[in-house]
Amino acid sequence: MIHLKNVHKRFRRPEGGWFDAVRDTTLHIKAGEIFGLIGFSGAGKSTLLRLINLLERPDHGSVNVDGRDLTGLSAAELRRARQNIGMVFQQFNLMANRTVAANIAFPLEIAGWSRADIDQRVAECLDIVGLADRAGHYPAQLSGGQKQRVGIARALAPRPHVILADEPTSALDPKTTQSILDCLQDINARFGVTVVIVTHEMHVIRSICHRAALLDAGEVVELLDVTDKQVAARSALAKSLLEAA
Ligand SMILES: Nc1ncnc2c1ncn2[C@@H]1O[C@H](COP(=O)(O)OP(=O)(O)OP(=O)(O)O)[C@@H](O)[C@H]1O
Ligand SMILES: [Mg+2]
Repeated sequence: MIHLKNVHKRFRRPEGGWFDAVRDTTLHIKAGEIFGLIGFSGAGKSTLLRLINLLERPDHGSVNVDGRDLTGLSAAELRRARQNIGMVFQQFNLMANRTVAANIAFPLEIAGWSRADIDQRVAECLDIVGLADRAGHYPAQLSGGQKQRVGIARALAPRPHVILADEPTSALDPKTTQSILDCLQDINARFGVTVVIVTHEMHVIRSICHRAALLDAGEVVELLDVTDKQVAARSALAKSLLEAA
């Protein structure tokens, strides 16, 4: 479903020279998986996630999602392909001057849906995330957890096959965190959406992921299999993350 092959991303350092944020990385994520990207700060998790929808373009390597190599698409083709890849952000990224319903409608407006189709889909998505009674509220009137539910509904609205989530619970308290993880798990189970979730916390991996890649200095250093909520960690780095959890 998602095949990253030898992807490499380097950034120019402000002080001169280059920094390799993702190093020649190959990763295969299966359809219907909840896949975690875990590692300490600066490991390259967000960069690797953003390579999946080409928010970052790799210096080399290929990014194949749903059977298409995204690096070979024209700008218009890429815009269409991205409708198949929703994104959820740590800080929610909602539009303050739009209601909950209008935030969820936004990607559908961009994609040219009819008003009737938009209204129906927004109502469905509000229902899925449990916010049917908040349609007319503004983001400032919502709790953090409710804001993230809107973020998830907005990502889900165009019926994507993939949702990318970058630390979606890092701004939330533990109880709210679990409810947001449950919401993502529910969407994965009900609609078969493949979820890629970035986190620096092993409990997030344990809670909802089927598999995870442990990143260090821009490389995948271990693939973790999560069976019966136990993580079999081999490397010292994985063990240290487990102990920190
Ligand atoms: N646009 C950019 N320009 C320059 N350097 C960048 C850019 N984006 C990321 N980096 C650098 O690349 C490295 C990896 O960054 P990335 O954001 O992918 O890490 P991360 O694992 O998501 O970290 P965190 O847990 O802190 O979010 C970091 O050293 C970061 O400073
Ligand atoms: Mg990050």
